[in-house]
Amino acid sequence: MVEFMLPANSKVAAGKTHQAPAGSKQVRRFKIYRYDPDAGANPRLDTFEVDLDKCGPMVLDALIKIKNEVDATLTFRRSCREGVCGSCAFNIDGTNTLACTKPIADIKGDVRIYPLPHMPVIKDLVADLSVPYAQYASIKPWLQAETPPPSSERLQSPEERAKLDGLWECILCFCCQTSCPSYWWNGDRYLGPAVLLQAQRWLADSRDEASGERLDEIDDPYRLYRCHTIMNCTSTCPKGLNPGQAIGAIKEAIFKRS
Ligand code: SF4
Ligand code: F3S
Ligand code: FES
Repeated sequence: MVEFMLPANSKVAAGKTHQAPAGSKQVRRFKIYRYDPDAGANPRLDTFEVDLDKCGPMVLDALIKIKNEVDATLTFRRSCREGVCGSCAFNIDGTNTLACTKPIADIKGDVRIYPLPHMPVIKDLVADLSVPYAQYASIKPWLQAETPPPSSERLQSPEERAKLDGLWECILCFCCQTSCPSYWWNGDRYLGPAVLLQAQRWLADSRDEASGERLDEIDDPYRLYRCHTIMNCTSTCPKGLNPGQAIGAIKEAIFKRS
């Protein structure tokens, strides 16, 4: 398992400890990053003891239990609870992943939960993803075609459709984006692995007719070539995708047309 360097604020002071109810038999400790920039206090790491006999199996189950039963101010994003919306991405046990698909049983010792690394924190586990979303919008993630649409849908052969496999499944959780050291240091200019995988999703689409313009936009020392094939992105993707390979395909397409 690849462990990613956490932001400097990972050395946060211990905060409050909330003990499990008396009589709990299967107690695990969850150490959770707490920070409210509006309150002016330093970040802290609160400890919540959870009785696993009375909790669902996933890390998200524990977070929801803590919020419902112990501390309603604990703040985090979540929606689908089945690995398709991408909103419950945190740094759990040293790795960026989805809380709703991460079994508590897979983690040894205390369960440490931080926001996605190297992003501004809005509150507790909620990272500010405005920059990666703006970068996503910049690659024009929609079909562009001059050919007038046919009376029904634009068709693809099974082989053409297969080229989108490994790309369309991305849920934009940004686990990969925030695991990439190049993105940590150049996140204002480097598009990052999630956005580049999405760019490749449109470059690989046989119905799209804007490949030339798309490659022109991406072919840039920062937007594309800050990828140094570190491959943390691929190691961490909770959907088993390979952003590093997608970036390689973009570089190859640019090389071939030069
Ligand atoms: Fe998340 Fe994987 Fe998509 Fe990256 S490639 S945003 S890790 S689903
Ligand atoms: Fe970063 Fe992945 Fe490239 S970790 S450097 S985007 S291969
Ligand atoms: Fe949707 Fe976890 S809640 S991916």
